[in-house]
Amino acid sequence: MRSVWIGMNAMDIDTPALCLDIEAVESNVMRMAEFARRTGVNLRPHAKTHKSPMLAHMQLAAGAIGITCAKLSEAEVLAASGIKDILIANQIVGAHKIARLVNLAAHSEVMVAVDDVDNVAELNAAAQTKGVQLRVVIEIDIGMGRCGVAPGQAVLDLARQIIVSPGLRFEGVMGYEGHVIFTPDPEERKAKTEASLKPMMESVDLLRRSGIPVNIVSSGGTGTYFITGCYPGITELQVGSYITMDSQYREVVGIDFAYALTVLATVIRVHGEKRAIVDAGLKAMTRDFGMPYVLDPPGWKVTALAEEHGFLERVDGAPLKRGDKVKIVPNHGCTTINLHDYYYVVRRGVLEAIWPIAARGKTY
Ligand SMILES: Cc1ncc(COP(=O)(O)O)c(C=O)c1O
Repeated sequence: MRSVWIGMNAMDIDTPALCLDIEAVESNVMRMAEFARRTGVNLRPHAKTHKSPMLAHMQLAAGAIGITCAKLSEAEVLAASGIKDILIANQIVGAHKIARLVNLAAHSEVMVAVDDVDNVAELNAAAQTKGVQLRVVIEIDIGMGRCGVAPGQAVLDLARQIIVSPGLRFEGVMGYEGHVIFTPDPEERKAKTEASLKPMMESVDLLRRSGIPVNIVSSGGTGTYFITGCYPGITELQVGSYITMDSQYREVVGIDFAYALTVLATVIRVHGEKRAIVDAGLKAMTRDFGMPYVLDPPGWKVTALAEEHGFLERVDGAPLKRGDKVKIVPNHGCTTINLHDYYYVVRRGVLEAIWPIAARGKTY
């Protein structure tokens, strides 16, 4: 067990520790909620980033209409915390998983993405056996080449199959412009995002012209929320990273939500004045998109991560000494948070609470 207590100075928390600046979280949540109110788009924030029912409830309290997640096991955690309206923005494949899904549908208003006729048939059969009506959205591939049907006729064909399936309720469509979201140039990002959304909206028009009502048209991420949220016909945004932010979004895309997430680390060794080693490595933060960013003290950078060690190099800051604390902003929040059991929730430098990251490791 860590020796930590509520009210302690946050810089004395045993390291490495994942600290959450709760004032920054509150400001990010309010800022996105305010954007949604101003533009009239709904928010269904993606819990894949924070993995925390507490933070999901905070987003709902600020006006979000529901929560998005990536995995069935995440949806189970969210539903157990009392959240009803949950979109699993992914395909659920395999008899066992489908059985779990329809069981969950008996206790919540879970909704799932589909992109395949056989999968639709399996979901329909399982839902009927369970005696539930499962909500579904068609995922449209708007350029990522990940999952989803092609825009156009394939969407209409699948929707026609869904509306005649008594176990299913057709809610609408979703896309995700993940292939353009990190485009550094804002004008280029806007053009590419709009070009990706256009075929999805044309598919929605095709459905409506064919007499099929479409309630939900969902897309968007932190790098595109202000583009996608204003695109005509989009009804909801599934933004994730904005709540905690990470250095990838700030450095590459220039998104300026507040940094709420830091890994607190301790210097365990120095090599002269130019290099230092901290006790946080790959088991405390990820580098799938690039190296994390040293927030404090200024003038240092992370050059490498080994399992348990972070390698720091001085750029122009004051030298570090053994025992010094370093605050490091993850380069990718979603994957870094997944490495930790708890958020150490800090307000103005004082430990205010310890929240379990209940949906961490929920990859199934
Ligand atoms: C399907 C889907 N929707 C939304 C998001 C949220 O993106 P972001 O974290 O950029 O806000 C993601 C992120 O990977 C995603 O995969």
